[in-house]
Amino acid sequence: MCGIVGYVGSQSALEVVTAGLKRLEYRGYDSAGVAVLADGGLAAAKKAGKLVNLEKELVERPLPTGSTGIGHTRWATHGGPTDANAHPHLDNAGRVAVVHNGIIENFAVLRAELAERGHELLSETDTEVVAHLLAEEFSVTADLAEAMRLVCRRLEGAFTLVAVHADEPDVVVGARRNSPLVVGVGEGEAFLASDVAAFIAHTRSAIELGQDQVVELRRGGVTVTGFDGRPGDVRSYHVDWDASAAEKGGYDYFMLKEIAEQPKAVADTLLGRIDVSGSLTLDEVRIPASELREIDKVVIVACGTAFHAGLIAKYAIEHWTRIPCEVELASEFRYRDPILDSRSLVIAISQSGETMDTLMALRHAREQGSRVLAICNTNGSTIPRESDAVLYTHAGPEVAVASTKAFLTQLVACYLVALYLGQVRGTKWGDEICAVIRDLSRISVEVERVLETMEPVRELARSLAEKDTVLFLGRHVGYPVALEGALKLKELAYMHAEGFAAGELKHGPIALIEDDLPVVVVAPSPRGRSVLHDKIVSNIQEIRARGARTIVIAEEGDEAVVPYADHLIRIPATPTLLQPLVATVPLQVFACELATARGNEVDQPRNLAKSVTVE
Ligand code: G6P
Repeated sequence: MCGIVGYVGSQSALEVVTAGLKRLEYRGYDSAGVAVLADGGLAAAKKAGKLVNLEKELVERPLPTGSTGIGHTRWATHGGPTDANAHPHLDNAGRVAVVHNGIIENFAVLRAELAERGHELLSETDTEVVAHLLAEEFSVTADLAEAMRLVCRRLEGAFTLVAVHADEPDVVVGARRNSPLVVGVGEGEAFLASDVAAFIAHTRSAIELGQDQVVELRRGGVTVTGFDGRPGDVRSYHVDWDASAAEKGGYDYFMLKEIAEQPKAVADTLLGRIDVSGSLTLDEVRIPASELREIDKVVIVACGTAFHAGLIAKYAIEHWTRIPCEVELASEFRYRDPILDSRSLVIAISQSGETMDTLMALRHAREQGSRVLAICNTNGSTIPRESDAVLYTHAGPEVAVASTKAFLTQLVACYLVALYLGQVRGTKWGDEICAVIRDLSRISVEVERVLETMEPVRELARSLAEKDTVLFLGRHVGYPVALEGALKLKELAYMHAEGFAAGELKHGPIALIEDDLPVVVVAPSPRGRSVLHDKIVSNIQEIRARGARTIVIAEEGDEAVVPYADHLIRIPATPTLLQPLVATVPLQVFACELATARGNEVDQPRNLAKSVTVE
C-alpha cells in the first residue's frame, strides 16, 4: 500500500530513491514521484502509471542533482491515479515536499481550514494538506522535525509521512502511526523506507520506528522522538538477507523465483526447532507453558492467502490439541464482537506483518485480554511487534504480489504451533511430535519433486487461456487448498474462479457445471480417511457426468481417480494433514502460467498491492 523512500548522504538522491522505489513497487504501482533538494531549491517529478513512466519523464526532463531526496510509488486511496494526485505533494511556495502512505481521516476538515487561510490545494488527495500544514509550521519553527511533530498531533488515521524542506537541505524527516517505516543507517548516509528492501543494497543496519514517532535523518546520524518531542526508544537490528535475495535471479518473474524457492523456504522454517532432548522448541514463543495449558480456544485471524493457511491450520490444531479453533477473516473479526478472554489464544498470520485488517484484529484481541501469537515473515514489522509472541517464517523476501512461498511457510509455522501446543498440553507424545517433524522435513524434497514435473501443468494452463471460468473443489484440508487455487487464479489471470467444498456442490454450485467447464479437484489421500477419498471420487463422477472437464490432483499410486480424470496432476504421497504443502504448488504454477498466457502482469496484478495498510 504505497512504497516510500527517503535518502540523505553523498550519493545522487535521485538514483538511490528510484532504485529503492523499484524494489517497493510491489506495494503499489498506480503512480510514482520523486523530489530532490538541490541548489537551494526543491525539484519534483511525478507521473501516473508504473515507475517506468516516471523514469521516462526523468530522462526527458531531468531533475538537478542533489543528495537529499524522497520518492513514492502509490496505491490510490483518496483520488484516482492521476499525475496531479501522484506524490510528492508540495506547498504553494514549492519549498516543502511530502509523501504519504495511509489515510488521514480528518483531512476534509483540515483542507477546509487551509482553504479558508488562503491555501490553494491542487489534488484530490488527503496527503496534500500535510504539505501545506508543514509549510505553515515550518514558517514559525524553522525546524522540519518540530513542524512534523506539530502536524502529526493534528492528524487522525494511519500514516507514514516523509518530508523534505528546501530550507533544510541536508535533512529528511519521517513519521509513522499505524503504518510501516524503517530506517537504514549507513556510513555518512541514512535511508527511510516502507520496507528494508529499498535500501538493502546500501546497508543491512536498520532501526525499527515505534508508534507515533518522528525521525530526523542527517548524514551524521538519526534522531528519533515521539510526537510529543520526547526522545524515542530505538531498536536497531541487522537484516539477515542481502540484495541478491530481493533480485529476480534469472527468472522472468519474482513469482516464478519464489515458487522455486519453496523447498528452501520450507526447510529454513523448520531449522533448529528440535532441541538436544528431542523436544520441540519455539524460542520466540514467549508465552509461558503454564498459560498455554490454560488456553480453551484458538482463534486465527488473517487475510487473503494467509487466511487460507489459517483454514488449513484449524484441522491440525484441533486434531493434535483437541482445542476448538476458529478461523476468521481479520477484516470481519472485530466488528462482530467476538467472544474472547484471557484463555483465548489468537494467532495472527501475516507475511508482511503490516496488513491493517490483521493488525486491528490483534489489537482488539489484546484489548479483550487474549494472548496474541504472530506468524510473520517480516522481521521488525508492526504485527509481531504488537503481539505477545512471534514465530517467524523464514521464507526470505517475497516480492510478487501473489503469495506463494510465504503460504507454504505459514503452514509449516502453523503445524509447529499446533505441535507445540500438543506438547505443552500433553495431547501429543514426544515421539509423535518427532514423527510429524520428520514428515515435515521430507516435504521440502517432495515440493522439489513437484516442481520438477510441472511442464504438463503449464501446458494445460496455456490450453485454457481462453476460458472464462475455472472451479476448484476439495474436501477436508483440500477445501482451503481449492480456495487458494481459486484466489491465485483471480489475482493473476483475472478469471472467474471459485473454490468449493466438494460436498457442498450438490447444494447449489453444481448448477454452474456445463460442457467443458474446467474443474480442478484436489483428491485426498486414499491412505488417510478412505471415506473422504471415496466421496471425492463420487464428486468427480457427478461433475464429469454433467460435462465438466476434470483436472484431478491426486497422490502417486491413487488409481481410483484415473478413469474420471481428463487431466491428472500427480503429487507425492504425504500424510493427510500435510498434503496442502504439496497440493498447492501445481495450483500456483497453473495460475502463473495462465496469467502469462493471457498477457497479464504476473508480479503486479491490476488493482492489487502486496501489503495492504488500509482497512
Ligand atoms: C494482500 C496480498 C495477498 C496477501 C494478503 C495478506 O491482499 O495481495 O497476497 O495474502 O494481502 O497479506 P499478509 O502480508 O498479511 O500475509
